[in-house]
Amino acid sequence: MSGKREIREVAITGTGSYLPDRVLTNFDLEKMVDTSDEWIRTMTGISERHIAAADQAASDLAIEASRRAIETADIDPNKIRLVIDTTVTPDFPFPATASIIQDKLGLKAGAFDIEAGCSGFVYGLATAYSFIASGVYDNILLVSVSVLSKITDWTDRSTCVLLGDGAGAMILSASGEMGIYPHFDLGSDGKDPTVLWMPAGGSRQPATAQTVADGLHYLKMNGPDVFKFAVRAIVESSKRTMARCGLVPEDIDLVIPHQANSRIIEAAYRRMDIPQEKFYQILHKIANPSDASIPIALDHAVRHGVLVKDMTVLLPSFGAGLSWASCVLRWILEPKER
Ligand code: ACO
Repeated sequence: MSGKREIREVAITGTGSYLPDRVLTNFDLEKMVDTSDEWIRTMTGISERHIAAADQAASDLAIEASRRAIETADIDPNKIRLVIDTTVTPDFPFPATASIIQDKLGLKAGAFDIEAGCSGFVYGLATAYSFIASGVYDNILLVSVSVLSKITDWTDRSTCVLLGDGAGAMILSASGEMGIYPHFDLGSDGKDPTVLWMPAGGSRQPATAQTVADGLHYLKMNGPDVFKFAVRAIVESSKRTMARCGLVPEDIDLVIPHQANSRIIEAAYRRMDIPQEKFYQILHKIANPSDASIPIALDHAVRHGVLVKDMTVLLPSFGAGLSWASCVLRWILEPKER
């Protein structure tokens, strides 16, 4: 028997994202429900969101983002041996959307989905990290995707103004240098699933003509409860993760939080001793694409030269479950010509 195996360093070696072509503005929504551009911008910070076409499912968006990540990482696709997809809007309840992505990208890889609400991306990062750090895999494709528009009640102004579609992907690889701190704060408080949920279509309440007539196949949310939880989750999870990593707020160069509502982010940074300028937000353009929001924003920050080599980056998230998750990256990539 061999002796103790070493824990390997892991890094993100390429990122990609994809937003569907169709843009739905607040002014468009004014024509659909009793709302206003001013209310949406003041209460959420959102101006517009991208919406998938009728024939676009989760895997279609995920494949576009994944191709871009593979290209940026400049990796031979044959070396990718695992695909992890995180989503609350899979193509089908089963098979896993990851298997569809694996096939369409022509990868010879294992594939599975993770569902942890909007925290899914950081859960996926923790999973990919662990597989690589432990030596099981060398290169993994992690992709998070949301087509919330397909489970949105477009007559419910309290949810439809908040949500968006998109996908964010990355390649993670064994690395000579630490690109991800070896500490993740993954949490769950599942006592009340109804705070943020889709009531029907699962084994608790299978879909019937009646559940559809009652609109139970749509996302439902208690907004004020999620808001309070979200602020607490970002602040407390971030503090725990920084402490475990031996970091203080001054060490953090950039925070890329789950992009749900600019007021949630504002309430969080006021309690965190990290200045507002360090919180990266593109939610005015993308609204809330669930667990895809952090990897889309991260890719955006890389492509716009905001996230650069040697930065320390905090990623806090929260979502249905209720769940939360955070971790810290050390960005080790040199900027590339794009
Ligand atoms: N336009 C105009 N008025 C509205 C709208 C709208 N789109 N939506 C709600 N209102 C009204 C309400 O009816 C209510 O009116 P009333 O006082 O006459 O009853 C008033 O605005 C206030 O409603 P609240 O829900 O109490 O307002 P709140 O300050 O909580 O803001 C919001 C609502 C923006 C939804 C907030 O609760 C929020 O952002 N919550 C968190 C949502 C979130 O982040 N979810 C993330 C998870 S979803 C996912 O990721 C899949």
